[in-house]
Amino acid sequence: ADQRTALKARIKQLLVEREAVLVAHYYVDADLQDLAEETGGCVSDSLEMARFGRDHAARTLIVAGVRFMGETAKILSPEKRILMPDLDATCSLDLGCPVDEFTAFCDQHPDRTVVVYANTSAAVKARADWMVTSSIGLDIVKHLHAQGKKILWAPDKHLGGYIQKETGADMLLWQGSCLVHDEFKGVELDLLKEQYPDAKVLVHPESPANVVALADVVGSTTQIINAAVEMDADTFIVATDNGILHKMQAAAPGKKFIVAPTAGNSATCKSCAHCPWMAMNGLQNLADLLENMDTVTSNEIFVDAEIGQQAVVAINRMLDFAA
Ligand code: 13P
Ligand code: SF4
Repeated sequence: ADQRTALKARIKQLLVEREAVLVAHYYVDADLQDLAEETGGCVSDSLEMARFGRDHAARTLIVAGVRFMGETAKILSPEKRILMPDLDATCSLDLGCPVDEFTAFCDQHPDRTVVVYANTSAAVKARADWMVTSSIGLDIVKHLHAQGKKILWAPDKHLGGYIQKETGADMLLWQGSCLVHDEFKGVELDLLKEQYPDAKVLVHPESPANVVALADVVGSTTQIINAAVEMDADTFIVATDNGILHKMQAAAPGKKFIVAPTAGNSATCKSCAHCPWMAMNGLQNLADLLENMDTVTSNEIFVDAEIGQQAVVAINRMLDFAA
């Protein structure tokens, strides 16, 4: 604990000295989330992270999350320096949607509006008409469907399937999934609900359809936290990365949160209810990054200028829609 306290103090000092701002996701280490909040940065879902990074005056952003979040920040602010504690922090959705295969898929369906999830590479975003996050994907597809558009959706099949079902839109789905949310189990969740009949079920839409079907609220990480605060219940079953519990407990003190059942337990299933890539962000590598910020090159996000100029169109469509 002493070492953690010392590291946190050092990071706070370095953020000021380096004039850098920390932007964190709800799935990263609790200390990093606290640091982001205490130092004038932000901790939020991917839509808010993008907006905050774009609007902040700082010339350097430290993104504690996964690579696509750093890339989105860079695409929105090419003039800023974007650094991450570990650039190997990727995402199974991004990995499962290589740009060559994705481009071929789009080329086969030129009549469809291409909508991609934020959890993709810059190159995939550059090929898309729209980028969406989990907090706004449903509204945007509803809007496109009302205009009579047919949609090509990538990469998350569960989120795409959920949106398809809710909107009735004609959606062709890429078959990707998140290795964390894919592990949540509907049958076991049903049994848990019997044990806690008064509990409300909060589900991230990257979860399988039979888990989403049992939800009282389906939403992004921010929307899930807001539901926990606003809903009149004492107990919540939560189907998303367990990193979110830190903020939920702080925002709704006295309420009880139970992580939804997964296929394995932590001994057998390394990714159960916690993203291994989000877990690559820690106090030590953040402190090291800040210490060596002037010379470090291996932690900096670069996006090809031409790809960035194409990708920003898809991202800005979402931000304008959200505004
Ligand atoms: P949110 O946009 O809901 O924060 O989700 C990001 C993510 O990676 C979920 O797994
Ligand atoms: Fe990607 Fe899933 Fe990790 Fe989110 S939790 S970053 S979707 S692998």
